[in-house]
Amino acid sequence: MQNIENKVVLITGASSGIGAATAKVLAAHGAKVVLSARRKDRLQQLAAEIGENAAYLASDVTRLDDMKALTALAKERFGKVDVLFANAGIMPGSSMSERKVNDWMAMIDINIKGVLNAMAAVLPEFLAQKRGHIIVTSSIAGTKSVPGNAVYAGTKHFVRAMLDSFRTESVMENTNIRTTTIYPGAIKTELLDTIAPSETKSQVEAFYQRVGLEPDVIADAVLYAIAQPDNVDVSDLAIRPSREG
Ligand SMILES: NC(=O)c1ccc[n+]([C@@H]2O[C@H](COP(=O)([O-])OP(=O)(O)OC[C@H]3O[C@@H](n4cnc5c(N)ncnc54)[C@H](OP(=O)(O)O)[C@@H]3O)[C@@H](O)[C@H]2O)c1
Repeated sequence: MQNIENKVVLITGASSGIGAATAKVLAAHGAKVVLSARRKDRLQQLAAEIGENAAYLASDVTRLDDMKALTALAKERFGKVDVLFANAGIMPGSSMSERKVNDWMAMIDINIKGVLNAMAAVLPEFLAQKRGHIIVTSSIAGTKSVPGNAVYAGTKHFVRAMLDSFRTESVMENTNIRTTTIYPGAIKTELLDTIAPSETKSQVEAFYQRVGLEPDVIADAVLYAIAQPDNVDVSDLAIRPSREG
């Protein structure tokens, strides 16, 4: 696989699910990975498993200073940043009529502002080196209406529209920054843990158990996007179970 060896990749949401699986797959192909999430013990364990090509920082995407510290760590340990995989996210789904305002705001803080904080931290590096790649995890929920998950769907539509607009700006400004938006369907991770117990939650869990894919399929998609030649921008990739409607 070309164009992956020795690339330095920052991964937010690396303590479980898609982020952790991606860290392992990229490192196995010769990348250096810089892991971010709040649960330090998980990051420590994953970094130990990967070995010398991994660094980690317990960090919160809602804090711009944490994202700047993550970028600084990448430069200190590996000398540069090539790719940002802005992947951290939560999905405490509920219907709007329940008015779970704290959950709405948390999703906006993490799924939207968290992506922007990470981008703000790496962009000075990318602009200075006239090269970079930003990969964001949206969702199939970012492509359609999702009753019972309206705010989550809104956050995932935001990252889609923002990153594609940024892609066009990058072309106009000749900055040589590639972008990829990933749209996963049902993937078996810890994402459903933040939904409050309800009949709907049980139905979603049963559906994920029945048809959900392992996070490796998303890791492979991230690897594919990064490994393309520099003049190829894999801008959008939707990956869902073949049994998901
Ligand atoms: N699983 C699916 O079916 C699916 C489908 C479509 C899209 N997605 C998206 O995929 C992404 C990854 O989710 P996942 O499915 O892998 O679920 P997951 O296993 O729950 O992983 C979520 C990750 O986000 C991190 N995170 C949450 N809040 C954070 C914060 N404030 N600061 C830093 N990190 C934070 C978590 O780490 P800590 O708790 O340790 O901070 C964890 O590493 C999310 O954006 C999600 O919306 C998932």
